[in-house]
Amino acid sequence: MQFINVKDVAAHCNKQINLRGWVRNYRKASSQLRFVIFRDGTGEIQMVADKKRMGEDRFDKVKLLNIEASLWVMGIPRAHQIRKNEYELELLDLQVIGEAVDYPIAKKEHGPDFLLSHRHLWLRSRRQYAALKIRHTVYYAICDYLNRNGFYRFDSPILTPNASEGTTTLFQVPYFDQGYAYLSQSGQLYLEAGIMSLGRVYDFGPVFRAEKSKTRKHLTEFWMMDAEAAFVEHDENMQIQEELIRYVIRTVIKNNGRELEILERDIETLQKSDAPFQRLTYHEAINLLRAKGIAISYTDDFGANEEEIITAGSAVPFFVERWPKEIKSFYMKRDPLNPKLALGADLIAPEGFGEIIGGSQREDDYDLLLERITSEGYSIEDYQWFLDLRKYGSVPHSGFGIGLERLVQWMTGIRHIREVIPFPRMINRIYP
Ligand code: 4AD
Ligand code: MG
Repeated sequence: MQFINVKDVAAHCNKQINLRGWVRNYRKASSQLRFVIFRDGTGEIQMVADKKRMGEDRFDKVKLLNIEASLWVMGIPRAHQIRKNEYELELLDLQVIGEAVDYPIAKKEHGPDFLLSHRHLWLRSRRQYAALKIRHTVYYAICDYLNRNGFYRFDSPILTPNASEGTTTLFQVPYFDQGYAYLSQSGQLYLEAGIMSLGRVYDFGPVFRAEKSKTRKHLTEFWMMDAEAAFVEHDENMQIQEELIRYVIRTVIKNNGRELEILERDIETLQKSDAPFQRLTYHEAINLLRAKGIAISYTDDFGANEEEIITAGSAVPFFVERWPKEIKSFYMKRDPLNPKLALGADLIAPEGFGEIIGGSQREDDYDLLLERITSEGYSIEDYQWFLDLRKYGSVPHSGFGIGLERLVQWMTGIRHIREVIPFPRMINRIYP
């Protein structure tokens, strides 16, 4: 028997087909007529079950259907009488593959805790389906852009001997007779070795941060794409990020119209973000915040509130660049114009979605890097391999890391990060 995907029914209009999938919902229109919303992972279609057409025995099977039961169905797609480009399936026969008695997620409102405990089932809901489809697009759009622009995939390790993003958020794992290993916070340091062989590289995988923050934007396990390029300096680094993000926006709009609609994401707003990004120095950003009445000093980091104020009223993201070096990571290059600053830039998304990229030009001078490692109190022994990269053929280089879930939050308009990753890991949750 041949099966068709729901997304392809148009090509089989008025012909008998077979589908496989699940019952999203059903509705009794009369004693003779039932509507069943059927989904198969590629799309949704309304099935019309008419007792007179199907005969009593087959119609009885429809009457017994439960939400989320899996089915084989046979029917004929017909163009919707009113809605253009929509189809209904005239149901002829069906067979239940797997029952679903008392599916726990009902139409009524459930609290987030209940839904998170049932994440393995919640994933089937329409909004979750739409968000995860967009995540898929974002993931591949990032890879696509990089592959076309000379970046090679270079997988960095997850078990590592040291920190890349500070020692306070490390997850520690016993490691045989060598003491402890740490789960990677970012593959960046390894990519810096990779570029000396391949020129431009990226990795894309899960990273881990034992962050105590319980916010709408923090996970303890999230996905990061780190990119790194030899001979690229601070300005060009931002240029690459901007092109990449704008490519992602266009790809999502092109591929995910239906999903954006399900999520009620305003596409016009997204379209407006595909325009030249703004740039502010950290110093200018502080001035702007102070002018708006925020009490903040010239060495403070930004919180969600500050990020929101900086981008308020803008359709495009903001790069905030040249940060005080004390509040940024040890590996960032000292600003040649002002040794108190680091050549780092954060990319802040509009509409309150916050920081989506952290990037910088890297310190390529052996002595200056050694000085930073020492002043952070890190062990030189642990970082000797990283220092070696400045000893043998060092070059100016830069890179950046995109938080996949943060970017998907922005694209989908979803306020809480827990809905844009299949199984969120948060400070108070590891099940299921
Ligand atoms: O700004 P971060 O810490 O930068 C780095 O890790 C660099 N080593 C990246 C690089 O240059 N290759 O993290 C990068 C991004 C942030 O901008 C944010 O989008 C995301 O990762 N991120 C988180 N996402 C979810 N939950 C968390 N706890 C996150 N922490 C950072
Ligand atoms: Mg950051």
